[in-house]
Amino acid sequence: MHVLVTGGAGYIGSHTCLELLNAGHQVTVVDNLSNSSEESLQRVSTLTGKEIAFFRIDLLDQLGLDAVFRDNQFDAVIHFAALKAVGESVAKPLAYYQNNITGTVNLCDATQRHHVSHFVFSSSATVYGIPRSLPLTETSATPMEEVTNPYGRSKLMLEYILKDWQASQPQTNVALLRYFNPVGAHESGQIGEDPNGIPNNLLPYISQVAVGKLERVGVFGCDYETPDGTGVRDYIHVVDLARGHVLALDKLAENPGVVTYNLGTGNGYSVLEIVAAFERACGKKIPFTFLDRRPGDIAVCYADPSLAKTELGWVAERGIDEMCTDGWRWQSQNPSGYTTIAGS
Ligand code: NAD
Ligand code: UD1
Repeated sequence: MHVLVTGGAGYIGSHTCLELLNAGHQVTVVDNLSNSSEESLQRVSTLTGKEIAFFRIDLLDQLGLDAVFRDNQFDAVIHFAALKAVGESVAKPLAYYQNNITGTVNLCDATQRHHVSHFVFSSSATVYGIPRSLPLTETSATPMEEVTNPYGRSKLMLEYILKDWQASQPQTNVALLRYFNPVGAHESGQIGEDPNGIPNNLLPYISQVAVGKLERVGVFGCDYETPDGTGVRDYIHVVDLARGHVLALDKLAENPGVVTYNLGTGNGYSVLEIVAAFERACGKKIPFTFLDRRPGDIAVCYADPSLAKTELGWVAERGIDEMCTDGWRWQSQNPSGYTTIAGS
């Protein structure tokens, strides 16, 4: 297939471009580079020996987007492009709704006008709010009032928007992929997560402590009802996640209408277990301090990934040690992310 990947220069997008190319697909990327570098795509090309067509376009630029659709015949769209910082979304809700919601509506409009029938959307486990029971299945409740921030609400609203859109034109197929906590990097150490400023998420924070850029990890809460009192999450290797997108395209080719899948491992690890796993991976002590709970955090979250196994033939193959080892390889070889000068 010829696949348009929006946000393809970003963390999950770049890993997915690599898996798509390795699976024999043709890839075109649209990205405004607001949270990424074109270097990631150059590295994917080098790793795969294949070209990626790249257009630096904002999804809010309808004319620019239309020109890319007009000049290419896409078979599918994988839509990663979004703003994703939870705290920033609270401070700038309009920027988040404009970018994530208007950007997606523009993309759907172009997808429809140019008769592209397959659409894969990056959703998040955040749509489940406070879990009623665990593990979370695709039929677990997704109560809007429990999603604690505009970023999360944009994801849940977009799930509804995409379902309404698909219902209006049944020849379109939509996959809503609910990611749990993507971490790690490609085993080459050439591509990985390159957050702007101080990381908000646990793994990038730990790796920056390990590489000496930050002093110590603040552990948000030690009094949750979990075995060691710290929050438990379903961390998933980004390469497993990327492979899930390739399999989702195969599923959409069967014309299923709307499908929704959890992409997680089904295993939960606490913050302290992650710190310990990262210490094993990097061979260093990771200093940490207990802090208050972070507002909006839940105690425990992990997936039931069995639907993706049954319907996509997808299972996460990489465990927590591989996630940390691969994440550390990327961080230690690229201490300043994509701005690191080769050999320095
Ligand atoms: P990322 O920031 O690395 O990638 C997003 C990319 O989209 C960036 O390259 C950015 O420049 C681009 N972009 C943003 N707005 C754009 C616009 N208006 N026009 C064109 N390009 C634009 O983030 P990521 O971690 O790779 O996340 C990818 C997707 O997965 C996002 O939709 C995110 O919400 C979702 N998601 C991520 C996580 C996670 O933990 N990383 C978890 C659940 C869901
Ligand atoms: C966060 C987002 C969520 C998003 C998800 C994607 C928040 C509130 N939620 O989820 O919307 O979909 O990323 O991966 O930001 N932790 C620390 N110290 C840190 C950072 C995190 O102790 O410096 C803890 C958290 O309290 C949590 C765990 O580590 O228990 C994971 O946190 P994080 O990586 O931010 O992911 P989530 O909170 O699960």
